[in-house]
This record gives sequence, C-alpha cells and structure tokens, in this order.
Amino acid sequence: MSPFKPVKIDILTLFPEMFAGPFSNSILKRAQECGLIEINLINIRDFSANKHRTVDDAPYGGGAGMVMGPEALFGAVEHVLNTRGFDLLPGRVVLMSPQGRPFNQMLADKMARENNLVLICGHYEGVDERVRKELVTDEISIGDYVLTGGEIPAMVVVDAVTRLVPGVLGEAASATEDSFCGGLLEYPHYTRPREYRGMGVPEVLLSGHHEEIRKWRRRESLLRTLERRPELLRTAELTSEDKEILRRIKSSINELDLS
Ligand code: ADE
Repeated sequence: MSPFKPVKIDILTLFPEMFAGPFSNSILKRAQECGLIEINLINIRDFSANKHRTVDDAPYGGGAGMVMGPEALFGAVEHVLNTRGFDLLPGRVVLMSPQGRPFNQMLADKMARENNLVLICGHYEGVDERVRKELVTDEISIGDYVLTGGEIPAMVVVDAVTRLVPGVLGEAASATEDSFCGGLLEYPHYTRPREYRGMGVPEVLLSGHHEEIRKWRRRESLLRTLERRPELLRTAELTSEDKEILRRIKSSINELDLS
C-alpha cells in the first residue's frame, strides 16, 4: 500500500464497460492495485427519473439531436458528493466537452494534486445548461475535434493525470524528464543494439561523458521544439544557455536560407 492518499476519480458515464480495457492494463491497473488512484465508475442511467431509464430528451426550441437532461446528472453528482462525504468540495467536477478548456500537461499536473476528481462524460448534442451552471466547475476538451462522447476524453485525462501521481512511475525522474516537462519536447532516445540495419547511435551517447550528453540532449530538445512546436518556446522554462543555443540554431538556419 502507498504512503500517499489516493486520488479518487469518479467517472459518470452511460457506458461504464468502455473503461474496462484501458483501466485494467499496464500502469493504470498497477496504480489502482497499489492504492495510488481509486477509480469509481457510475452509470448515469442508474439515476434516470423514469422507468425506461432514459437520460436524454428533445431540445426546447426545436432542432436536431437530443440533450442530456438535468435529473440523472444532478442525481449522479449528488450521489458522488454524498458517498465522498462532501470532502470533495470544492474539488473539481469536470465536464468532458469539445467546448472546454484545452487539456494540456500543466492542467494534468494541477489535476494530479487534487484529492478528488469527478469526470462527467457528455453525450448526444450536449448537456442541459443548468448542469453546466450549477454542477460543473471545469470543462475540458482534449482537442479541436468532436468525438461521439466524453468517455475516450475521460480516459485520456485519467491516463495523463495518473502517471503524474507520486509513486506511479517507477523512476521519479521519468515524469519530470519527459516531453512537455519544462515545456519542451523530448530529445531522441536510443537503446541497444549499437548498430541496427546500418543505422548507428550518436557517438556522444556512447562516450560516457555526462556533461556532453546533457548538452546534446538539451540542444536536441530545443531543436525539436523549434522545428515541431515553436509556439511552446514562448512559455518554456529557458536558461540563458538555452537562449544562446536557440540563437545559434536560428542563425545557422538563416545562413542556409541565404545560400
Ligand atoms: N466530447 C466530444 N468531443 C470531445 C473533445 N474533443 N474533448 C472532450 N470531450 C469531448
């Protein structure tokens, strides 16, 4: 058992079976077994206000599609608050929605520090606005595209959050050295064999010279970020050495452009 308080994650969904695969394998499975996270799946349909167990209805004012009504969602969230003994408040009640705030590493980091998270998986054309106004503290989108429901986004969030919970990753260094930590993309990795199909490994990595390896990795991180995600450099934590490296990379690119 872990010395840490587990992060308790309640997921409100119409399709609890969807979570079985991702949550019962690999790191997410181990994190639960070790008591580092606790995942509780709640079927929204169990809180339906009618005998047919429906949770959606046609939109007032007309229009295409169906809307998730307030009764079942209020019932499900209140059930979670009651079972958590209200120690949840003022924790986060998050609606997964393409209209939400973009999910990123910084938000994952903040969420990994919460004791409780409630994730609501939206469906149909959307959820009744009263749910948004009264229950939801945060709306999160995993990207500018529309999925069929909030289940896969909730899995993405749980995965990204779980690996940041202290004790989940074997080596403490793994989470702090990976892509986006410090705001840069990760440097290239190599492992055995030393030569594969005629492709070698950069000499510096075989040199055993730790300072040279550190510098090479940092330069590669900066180069990769500049090439693929230059906008990240605006908010990355850059040292004066980093800025000097970037200046040199940019001026060598400019020289190439001129020739
Ligand atoms: N539900 C449907 N699409 C979504 C998205 N991109 N992010 C979060 N929830 C969603």
